[in-house]
Amino acid sequence: MVAQRPAQSPQQTLPTLHVEDRHGAVQELEAVEGWRLMEILRDHGVGMDNTCGGALACAECHVILDAEWARRVPPPNEEEIEKLDELPMLYEHSRLSCQIIWSDDMSGLRLKLAQET
Ligand code: FES
Repeated sequence: MVAQRPAQSPQQTLPTLHVEDRHGAVQELEAVEGWRLMEILRDHGVGMDNTCGGALACAECHVILDAEWARRVPPPNEEEIEKLDELPMLYEHSRLSCQIIWSDDMSGLRLKLAQET
């Protein structure tokens, strides 16, 4: 039997993610179902102003997922892995945030922005 998510009421809080910026400050951001993680970060003004828009050309959307969350987010595809391999600094849970589509079951996701390369 598959568990059903209860209908959202106006009193419920919106799905959020926790982001540590490049200065170590942590922010809690509201997220929108179906948006790329990069778009959510960009629209909240958390770095990533000069991205390629998700075309896997810039890697400026590089983030490091919390270890627990790295297992719960869909894995990277071959193109993302190849682009990640081009980065000078790669971490165990590095991802390109333009390749992660937000779904509300990711609420609570923790990540930090990688330093600019
Ligand atoms: S936005 Fe350019 S690779 Fe992700």
